[in-house]
Amino acid sequence: MKLWITGCQGLVGTALRHLCIKEQIEFAATSRQEVDISSLKHIKDFLHSPAGKDVTHIINCAAYTHVDKAEQEPEQARQINALGPENLGTVAHHFDLKMLHLSSDYVFGLVGDRPFTETDVCRPEGTYAVTKYEGEQRLLDAFPQACILRTSWVFGKGGKNFVSSILDKIQKEEKLYVVSDQKNRLTYAQDLAQTLLSLLCHSGIFHFANHGETSRFEVAQQMIQTAQSKGLSIACREVFAVDSSVFPQLAKRPLYSALDTTKIENLLGISPRPWKITIEDFIHAL
Ligand SMILES: NC(=O)c1ccc[n+]([C@@H]2O[C@H](COP(=O)([O-])OP(=O)(O)OC[C@H]3O[C@@H](n4cnc5c(N)ncnc54)[C@H](OP(=O)(O)O)[C@@H]3O)[C@@H](O)[C@H]2O)c1
Repeated sequence: MKLWITGCQGLVGTALRHLCIKEQIEFAATSRQEVDISSLKHIKDFLHSPAGKDVTHIINCAAYTHVDKAEQEPEQARQINALGPENLGTVAHHFDLKMLHLSSDYVFGLVGDRPFTETDVCRPEGTYAVTKYEGEQRLLDAFPQACILRTSWVFGKGGKNFVSSILDKIQKEEKLYVVSDQKNRLTYAQDLAQTLLSLLCHSGIFHFANHGETSRFEVAQQMIQTAQSKGLSIACREVFAVDSSVFPQLAKRPLYSALDTTKIENLLGISPRPWKITIEDFIHAL
């Protein structure tokens, strides 16, 4: 077995590389500069190169993830998020490889009132969400045996994410204003990487996130508490809950888009760790 991790410099790609090293799993890893997934030629050239030799599984961690900027660059977002997975699915089919792809809770749209299951109807809104959904569809058209893992609010070391930026702010700023009207499930990149490895033999659509719904505000409070108990120096004295309207953004975010993870829990016999534990792990590993 040899994995090919695309988008290897991103948040999930980094966690997956580290896990493969730890578990002594053979892998090839490519950044955007090395293989642009929107180019079928780049992908084929890589698989014919010495580095791509003997690849058995593609794990696509590459994506256009700038949710707001996507509104101004819709074509670029579509090339990467929709055409990219289709290209990878096409070669997976052609070379008889397994293929795992990451997708997002955003495919469900802006108005959720209960956790979304894999069979719920998708109503994506905004360029990022629409292109991610299109990517799922185009991948499954090109390669119906593909495995798609949807996730939400991913955080960890080695990439931009709101948990890391809250950590940065609580170390520097005395007062913090944090959004409290959006609820979701956090996903620790390390736990997500482990789940990807557990799915290597599977096909279909799955959801994964850590247990418990929360808000960015609650996450900030928890981080301060955990950081203080670990003896980290904290500048922040007060955290204020604010509505998302206080920080207007170009692309709308769902107020609620938690994923139901029952299907993957039953399939793999796992129970995702509670989010507070993963925050402790994250801070402990600093
Ligand atoms: N982070 C979250 O909260 C979250 C939530 C739900 C789902 N997801 C999904 O999880 C997956 C991984 O996300 P992430 O958080 O790890 O994102 P990330 O940190 O932004 O990493 C994405 C990586 O893809 C690379 N990339 C961009 N365009 C590419 C191209 N044309 N060819 C090859 N590589 C390209 C980027 O390189 P450059 O930086 O050089 O452009 C970056 O290293 C994505 O599918 C995302 O939609 C993430």
